[in-house]
Amino acid sequence: MTLLVALSWDPGPWVERFRRLMPDRRIVVLGEPFERSEIRYVATWGPQAGTLDGLPNLELLFSLGAGVDHLLRYPGLPDVPIIRVIQDDLTTRMSEYVVMHCLVHLRELRRYDAQQREKVWEDNREAPAARDLRVGVLGTGVLGLDAARKLSLMGFDVAAWGRTPKAIEGLATFAGRDELDAFLARTDILVCLLPLTPETRGLLDRTLFAKLARDGRLGGPILINCARGGLQVEADILACLDDGTLKAATLDVFEREPLPADSPLWTHPAVTVSPHNAAISDPDMTSRTIAEQIRRHEAGEPLQGVVDRKQGY
Ligand code: NDP
Ligand code: OXD
Repeated sequence: MTLLVALSWDPGPWVERFRRLMPDRRIVVLGEPFERSEIRYVATWGPQAGTLDGLPNLELLFSLGAGVDHLLRYPGLPDVPIIRVIQDDLTTRMSEYVVMHCLVHLRELRRYDAQQREKVWEDNREAPAARDLRVGVLGTGVLGLDAARKLSLMGFDVAAWGRTPKAIEGLATFAGRDELDAFLARTDILVCLLPLTPETRGLLDRTLFAKLARDGRLGGPILINCARGGLQVEADILACLDDGTLKAATLDVFEREPLPADSPLWTHPAVTVSPHNAAISDPDMTSRTIAEQIRRHEAGEPLQGVVDRKQGY
């Protein structure tokens, strides 16, 4: 069986790991000679047009990340199971990002950074505690729930919203469009961990921001989007920051990536930008997970992270 590694960045480190983990298998990359009929598995991120065409014996398609929107938009995507990354390492990285940025806002890190540069010794004696802040996590999936639990452990008052109802001990949960407004009305910091699907595209817009709580201790609602840029309307974020509908935004993902140099988000004083690295797929951990999934598939055991194509995630 042959695994094709099809990446939009240097595949070398991945190929090296796959070869080490599966020495009895052939691992090929785009650009080197191989028979398309020998490919049984593809591990990919953002495949270029044509990459996945004409693979008559393909059995599984692995996304090298948790999200699969990059695959589902491929025209004529082969009709085989798509497997996404579900892995403690990635989940932990994402929760670190979410907890860190909630703490950055709670503890006014950017204010104290600026004050240090100006040698200003001044603090906020009315500073809220974590328990005073209502964090709302959009997404009750693998990443949303882990982040929500870790935020709860830090003392934040956490709720989470998903598509289908879920009862989670110790967590206020909301589901579906009918419960979205109630969820937003109790949210001071909105954390987005939704997949990008036709239903969620553009969800983070002015209409939604206007429904966030206005009576919170931070003086205005805050957006943290570490899911996908297609969920947000950047023109609305900027306008809402400027008119006070939002107080600040922490963005890891953007409508266009890399974020264009002329985007006003780079320099807006209330925006924190990171380069889509909230949770990277570690090559060691991810290659091991994929090798294990291939082993399970060949042993007829159930796979983890099989995507529901109809729902789009
Ligand atoms: P999951 O599939 O485990 O969870 C997705 C959640 O979103 C589920 O709770 C699902 O609801 C909910 N959801 C989907 N559609 C809707 C909808 N229309 N309305 C309400 N809720 C909806 O995904 P993960 O938690 O593993 O990952 C989430 C996303 O995070 C990924 O798709 C990816 O885009 C992004 N990501 C970003 C990274 C980064 O570095 N910036 C790294 C890794 C992932 P239900 O539970 O009811 O099905
Ligand atoms: C992912 C990502 O989906 O890194 O895993 O964005």
